[in-house]
Amino acid sequence: MDTDVTNIETEEVAETEVDIAEEDKVRFIEEVSQYIDSDTFSGSTEDYIMGYIDRVQEPELLILIKGIFEDDKLTTTKMYDKWAGLYDLAFPDRTHANRLISMLDSGVKVNKALDLGCGTGESTIPLLEVSDKVVAMDASSEMLNIAKDKLADRAVDFMQADFLQPPGESLKDFDLVLSVGVTRHIPLGEEDNFMRFIFDALKPGATALLSFVTRRGSSADCAIDIALEKWLFDRGINDRRFDNEFIGELISANGFTVKSTTSMESKYLYDKQLFELVKSETT
Ligand SMILES: C[S@@+](CC[C@H](N)C(=O)[O-])C[C@H]1O[C@@H](n2cnc3c(N)ncnc32)[C@H](O)[C@@H]1O
Repeated sequence: MDTDVTNIETEEVAETEVDIAEEDKVRFIEEVSQYIDSDTFSGSTEDYIMGYIDRVQEPELLILIKGIFEDDKLTTTKMYDKWAGLYDLAFPDRTHANRLISMLDSGVKVNKALDLGCGTGESTIPLLEVSDKVVAMDASSEMLNIAKDKLADRAVDFMQADFLQPPGESLKDFDLVLSVGVTRHIPLGEEDNFMRFIFDALKPGATALLSFVTRRGSSADCAIDIALEKWLFDRGINDRRFDNEFIGELISANGFTVKSTTSMESKYLYDKQLFELVKSETT
């Protein structure tokens, strides 16, 4: 593994860090392999997972895996609390928020927007370019703390809240809701409640910008991705994939129409589907 040791005081420390990561890698490969239906595979599942780690640049993946192994049972929010300080380091190239916001008609400027699942504030930054005020909401207090430091002098109100337990009347009358990278964390069966939360937060006729994750690739890639989803689920973490038909029905069943849509490839085993939605005028 290529490791930049320029900021590490001694070679000895660097060696230890690499050793820990190697151990985690072996354990990760062993555990995820057990979730793979070997009938779908002609070759070695271990080699294939190793290839996957190499493809996605292992350091960032290993940071996350190491965190998972430190806790027997996590929740999605606990996971983000735990990794908040590493999040921007592990995922430096997050362009989805910019891409979603560029789907709006050019020159649009709104009064009040909600960043639902704002994380460390990287999606809030571009949202501020099209909105006078932003409410940045997240379930993870530690992710929010980083966003607060980053955006201390901007027109942002921060709120720790879970979209499954809406905090009453305070999240209403928005002109725009942005939610990037959040649908993947919706617990199974709570998809309508997620959409209802956004519906209730928006003014009639207002816009929601949402990303969804869909699987892609060969049957072997899909088998690995399904195994990863199951492995994370058993550790208490929701990391969902959806199919396009399900997304379409979810949108229309919950009072929205699609104004525009586009997709983005990621280096992982999935694509991101980006949606500009309009809330119906009637409730
Ligand atoms: C993949 S991160 C995306 C963060 C940010 N939107 C960005 O683009 O960088 C997903 C965020 O959703 C938040 N989240 C997950 N489930 C949530 C829930 N039920 N309610 C509120 N926030 C949630 C997580 O805490 C995390 O900060």
